[in-house]
Amino acid sequence: MNAVLPPLQIGPITVDTPVVLAPMAGITNTAFRRLCREHGGGLYVNEMVTARALVERRPESLRIIKHEPDEVPRSVQLYSVDPVTTGQAVRMMVEEDRADHIDLNFGCPVPKVTRKGGGSALPWKIRLFESIVSTAVREASKGGVPVTVKMRKGIDEDHLTFTEAGRVARDAGVAAVALHGRTARQHYSGTADWDAVAELREALPDLPVLGNGDIWSAEDALEMVRRTGVDGVVVGRGCQGRPWLFGDLQAAFEGRDERHRPDLAMVVETLLRHARMLIPYFDGDELKAMQDIRKHVSWYFKGYPVGSQLRTQLVTVETLAQLQELLGRLDHSIDYPGADAEGPRGRAGSPKKVHLPEDWLVSRELDEDQREMIAAAEVDTSGG
Ligand SMILES: Cc1cc2nc3c(=O)[nH]c(=O)nc-3n(C[C@H](O)[C@H](O)[C@H](O)COP(=O)(O)O)c2cc1C
Repeated sequence: MNAVLPPLQIGPITVDTPVVLAPMAGITNTAFRRLCREHGGGLYVNEMVTARALVERRPESLRIIKHEPDEVPRSVQLYSVDPVTTGQAVRMMVEEDRADHIDLNFGCPVPKVTRKGGGSALPWKIRLFESIVSTAVREASKGGVPVTVKMRKGIDEDHLTFTEAGRVARDAGVAAVALHGRTARQHYSGTADWDAVAELREALPDLPVLGNGDIWSAEDALEMVRRTGVDGVVVGRGCQGRPWLFGDLQAAFEGRDERHRPDLAMVVETLLRHARMLIPYFDGDELKAMQDIRKHVSWYFKGYPVGSQLRTQLVTVETLAQLQELLGRLDHSIDYPGADAEGPRGRAGSPKKVHLPEDWLVSRELDEDQREMIAAAEVDTSGG
């Protein structure tokens, strides 16, 4: 085997294929994670869960962090703006043995989150960032659970935080850091800045650094490693509607050039399995499962000749039987469409104003009002 990279070491966890499924709210639930995991090695992170909601044991949060027995190791991403709640949430996960790895979200750019100083807005307040990360590491270490940090470059090009935040996280004892090479302002626009990823790799010689952003194929992953020297890659949108990408990534990292080129039959079979697996995830609520699968339809069929009328019907399905009937109308012998099925998919768009708490950028320290707001402000949200 001609391994491109050695296994990725996340504290005590050895990940043979140095690939991470990016946490994606509304996407990386147990159904999708298991579909991905079937195809290859890697670390499969769940959707972000809010520390406050977890501590309050809200049913939706407990659902989000639930893993099936075959999901080992279990990776949970936590979102928090406040060290106390972070500590409580991590303690709960460790004491109740609910996770083998905890990732902290400092990358989310959605207004609902940044307006409260969370996600990608938070590393700007570097002492708050340090306090959250070190609290998480301290609590997690009691159960031998490694903590990682996932972040963006900063708020915008004038307020970059990634190298400083990377050093602070390392000194606080994290097991790795991942960088999405965009600012919060960029949202999902433009291209990810892999030079920033290389810069972080260089700045933290003694810590695993993972690169994230715009990996659409196994070749992109190899290119990211070649250009940046990272220890592993984090893949998000590229696997939407393509869980087999993890097979390609494993092959690529093992130096093999086999790649999946699924015909329509395989796509349909995977989509159906995905839909079926969502039903138990939603406690048997078939309608909820069908509502969830709707958003995956255009990703699964990207590049395949599936008429617009059928696509429209597919995104309104309400029952599994209906879904099966609609998919049965397709000509399953249609072959892989090639380039049309590849390339960018999922969220894109243009730069967006970053909504921040008042006077957030005035100082790197919290003022009194901001401190009060932070203490009160664990939001319920879905990430990005
Ligand atoms: C639908 C969606 C949901 C996301 N949710 C989260 C999240 O919960 N936590 C997080 O850290 N990042 C989240 N992200 C960001 C991804 O983890 C990843 O950093 C980003 O998509 C860039 O990687 P990519 O180019 O491989 O997609 C989300 C992205 C998308 C598209």
